[in-house]
Amino acid sequence: MRSVTCSTPTNIAVIKYWGKDSVALNTPINSSVSVTLNQKQLKTVTSIVASTTFAADRIWLNGAEQDINNKRIQVVLKEMRRLATSKALDADGKPIRKEDWPSYKLHIVSINTFPTAAGLASSAAGYACLVAALIELFAAEEEYPGQFSVVARQGSGSACRSLDGGFVRWEKGTKADGSDSLAVQVADHLHWPELEAIICVVNDKEKDTSSTSGMMTSKDTSELLGFRAREVVDKRLHAIEAAYKAKDFETFGKITMMDSNQFHATCLDTYPPIFYMNEVSRSIIHMVHKYNEAAGRVQAAYTFDAGPNAVIFVEKKHTAEVMGLLLHHFDRDATLEVRGDFEKKHVVAPAASL
Ligand code: ADP
Ligand code: DP6
Ligand code: CO
Repeated sequence: MRSVTCSTPTNIAVIKYWGKDSVALNTPINSSVSVTLNQKQLKTVTSIVASTTFAADRIWLNGAEQDINNKRIQVVLKEMRRLATSKALDADGKPIRKEDWPSYKLHIVSINTFPTAAGLASSAAGYACLVAALIELFAAEEEYPGQFSVVARQGSGSACRSLDGGFVRWEKGTKADGSDSLAVQVADHLHWPELEAIICVVNDKEKDTSSTSGMMTSKDTSELLGFRAREVVDKRLHAIEAAYKAKDFETFGKITMMDSNQFHATCLDTYPPIFYMNEVSRSIIHMVHKYNEAAGRVQAAYTFDAGPNAVIFVEKKHTAEVMGLLLHHFDRDATLEVRGDFEKKHVVAPAASL
């Protein structure tokens, strides 16, 4: 018997991934970049017990058993079993040999400390955490740098960006087998400690259209999506990376907001259209623009993934002011309610201090 527990934070894309090049390999039509949040509020915690007495692999998410035969879970388990070494010890301190691992079945228990499937990147934290826990369980080793990221990508694309802290780029890659479609760290979590993220949970319900199916419909029907991937994303990637490195909040914030807006425009351009944002989301956008106008500069920047919930980036010196505005404009209980394990209605998570 051997057991491990790992936790992994979520990441929020500032240049969005939307659209698959290969559905089978889960590779994207464009590169993307994200900020990995810290572990305080938005994370996945996954425990795995491996035993020769278990009859089969099983997995539970937030207390409910999931279908272990899910293709994404299966590919992660298969790839990680292949990368196992003979270096892991069982509960008695004896090494488990690589050739003995097939006789061990796994019980995997995972919880998200934030809403699942609500556009706060639960699939990113979830699959990154599954890979991290399996690395630990199997004492797994990569055959080439970035291979673990490639495995996480096959679980959920955004997950490859959660294995690193700080500012992370997922390279779309050029190889036909997807082996160079992986994430690399651009700046570590110590680089910009003043950057913080305010998480506004507008609705914690599971969204109607999963990211996977939404982006497949967009790829099939939206002409704007192809234009975005060909003409827009690369120049934004260069500009936002430079801004992050220079800690230039105004440029970072402006590009972040423009990319969120273009992503949601492609959702509207999808046929039938996909509406991830709601009235409250749009009021948050309006509030942030009013605030920036009054300040005469970009001091707050919103971004929305595939869901109605906002992430607002600010520098620490403006966090209290923006939180105050949110609390003034929105009824905590009716519009920004957070249920479950949360104690606070709003969550402030220093973005770069993993
Ligand atoms: P989100 O915006 O939250 O990432 P997605 O539609 O991309 O939403 O993915 C949600 C799905 O990700 C869930 O329905 C579940 O299948 C998977 N998922 C979420 N959390 C975990 C986890 N901790 N472990 C395994 N899979 C997870
Ligand atoms: C809007 O990574 O959840 O959050 O690869 O199908 O699991 P799958 O999709 P997923 O898509 C994330 C979309 C996004 C933008 C982003 O995180 O880059
Ligand atoms: Co997701």
